[in-house]
Amino acid sequence: MSTSNIVTKVSDTKEEAVKAVAAEIAALIRARAAEGKEAVLGLATGSTPVVLYKELIRLHKEEGLSFKNVTSFNLDEYYGLPGTHDQSYRYFMNTELFDHVDIDKAKTHVPDGTVPADKVAEMCEKYDADIKAAGGIDIQILGIGRTGHIGFNEPPCGPDTRTHQVTLDEITIKDNARLFFHDKIEEVPTSAVTMGVGTILESKKIVLLAWGDNKADIIYRSVCEAPNENCPASWLQNHPNCVFVLDKAAAAKL
Ligand code: PGA
Repeated sequence: MSTSNIVTKVSDTKEEAVKAVAAEIAALIRARAAEGKEAVLGLATGSTPVVLYKELIRLHKEEGLSFKNVTSFNLDEYYGLPGTHDQSYRYFMNTELFDHVDIDKAKTHVPDGTVPADKVAEMCEKYDADIKAAGGIDIQILGIGRTGHIGFNEPPCGPDTRTHQVTLDEITIKDNARLFFHDKIEEVPTSAVTMGVGTILESKKIVLLAWGDNKADIIYRSVCEAPNENCPASWLQNHPNCVFVLDKAAAAKL
């Protein structure tokens, strides 16, 4: 029996699962727009959130959802890749979401993977400060790696880390080569800049998405193991408002 705060919502398919998440984001954006305020979204990359972004684009094109009052902060970026590189997370966000809605790109933030080594710490501090100055993240979307990483916080990782540079786990490098870098493992950067677990935990609401049976073990560990540094996502149990939105396959071991 777990004493986890995490709420789990299980749907038959990922398409069905993301509808309620997209509707919640839309309601937030519209409520803030009515007050003349910004909605602050924390966004994720990888194969998992693509289906959510498709639904947000549909809401924009078919139901008039405007993103003009949205400020966004992405979780992470490969170190060494410029935003013009087709495997960078800036490029991914542009092609999977930003280019298809009316968001002001000047208000979309992705850590800069091109700053020189001696400027990385300063850039990371500014990233956290910019999130605070925007009023904090209202809804943070997360995927999860098979290592238990959220953002690129690989195990072992404590709950208090801030935005920082990390070395990627071998499993993550392999998974990302398979899904993205045309299977060319040597092209996957070995380092990244990521929001820390502590940064993520400051979000007002957190929604973690996971699909497919290859995520079932790590979802079980994240929800049911006592929070521990070998499974960074398990720290989400300490958050008062965290939901795991899963398809049946990812929830199979719960
Ligand atoms: P995926 O990656 O969405 O491509 O499975 C998730 C992650 O590594 O956080």
